[in-house]
Amino acid sequence: MDKIRIRGAKPLRGTIVIGGAKNAALPLMTASLLTEDTLTLANLPHLADITTLANLLVQHGVEIRMDGHSPNGGHAGRVLSLTAAKIASTTAPYDLVRKMRASVLVLGPLVARQGKAKVSLPGGCAIGARPVDLHLKALQQLGARIELKEGYIDAEAPNGLTGAEIVFPQVSVGATENIMMAATLAKGETVLANAAREPEVTDLAHCLQAMGAKIDGIGTDTLRITGVKALHGARHEIVADRIETGTYAMAAAITGGDVELVGTRADLMNAALDVLRQAGATVTPTEKGIRVQRLEGPLRGTDVMTEPFPGFPTDLQAQIMALLTTADGASMITETIFENRFMHVPELRRMGANINLHGSSAMVRGVPRLTGAPVMATDLRASVSLVLAGLAAEGETLVSRVYHLDRGYERLEEKLAACGADIERVKETAG
Ligand code: UD1
Repeated sequence: MDKIRIRGAKPLRGTIVIGGAKNAALPLMTASLLTEDTLTLANLPHLADITTLANLLVQHGVEIRMDGHSPNGGHAGRVLSLTAAKIASTTAPYDLVRKMRASVLVLGPLVARQGKAKVSLPGGCAIGARPVDLHLKALQQLGARIELKEGYIDAEAPNGLTGAEIVFPQVSVGATENIMMAATLAKGETVLANAAREPEVTDLAHCLQAMGAKIDGIGTDTLRITGVKALHGARHEIVADRIETGTYAMAAAITGGDVELVGTRADLMNAALDVLRQAGATVTPTEKGIRVQRLEGPLRGTDVMTEPFPGFPTDLQAQIMALLTTADGASMITETIFENRFMHVPELRRMGANINLHGSSAMVRGVPRLTGAPVMATDLRASVSLVLAGLAAEGETLVSRVYHLDRGYERLEEKLAACGADIERVKETAG
């Protein structure tokens, strides 16, 4: 298994190109199931999660073609064309779904188009139980009959789905996306209240509009969808990855560097950029993206609470914690989205961080410096927080289980090395 070796305490300087958002690309790819025409997605990131979903879609009968070139360098294949002329299977098997929870996003589109779907129930994961009850209840409200048997969600709507007024009891990105897609082909109007407003939900809504869907209230917490008989093909450019952006912004700040992040937008992530400013970084929108500098002065402790968009994203919680470990003063970090998202804490402690957990809050007392150590990645965002800590730490950090990183960060070590980081991927020989 590969590891990442970092020799830290070097400021990052340079430019990093931000890719398309993984969490936008995944639902967008499943939207291809809604039409027999071709959906073309540009600005596709190259990530293990994208391949996992592509394999699932192929199994449903989607023809997939990769094309085009990266605008910023020799990495070909930024344009993905998906054609679901015929649905070959409405079953999403356990072996594919268990690799990635977002696979459950095939449910809404399949039931809407084919009147049925059988999708393996995703299990728990490292950061919490993560049930899909909100997806299922909302689909039932659209008229689907749902049974859970033998580990599968068995959904049927032989006469099609019918619009309904759905009030989500809790904000859910995935449930909003699944049900918005389903409602595009339902009879009549669907209202989704307390809907998620994450930029990835908005990106999906814009793509569905381009495919002929009728959606009002995009970007707000109330979406109104009037069902149409059929959707058609479209071409859509995937929104920039705000989590990748935020991660590299924090890498610049934690190392006392100066980095321009290009191909991204500040308005996707104002809450995170505000926290960075409070912590002592200078953040300036530029023509091409965002510039993050911390050229003088220490980092300052600040309190952070994760919240649904437009609040501070839970997917940047581990990274901001790494940053605040070396800040002057104390910081309270509260996680309100997932119940078990502090797996990085024991690993950061091994690098010298002073962190105490109290339920859903972590009290971080800044230390003058971190020291390199062998550490283990536990999930996608936790693993990148260890990379950030390693970039700031004195000495050598060896992060193992980097397959977690490859699910969500494209060419991470190349991008950081180009800004002066001493970082490399090392292959471990078996035995
Ligand atoms: C998406 C993101 C993930 C991010 C999360 C929160 C993708 C592919 N993943 O995940 O990176 O961390 O949003 O911003 O876009 N919940 C239920 N029942 C449900 C659905 C959710 O109780 O049916 C709970 C979850 O356990 C969690 C909370 O609601 O505590 C929010 O989850 P949700 O917004 O649905 O996250 P995902 O869509 O799975």
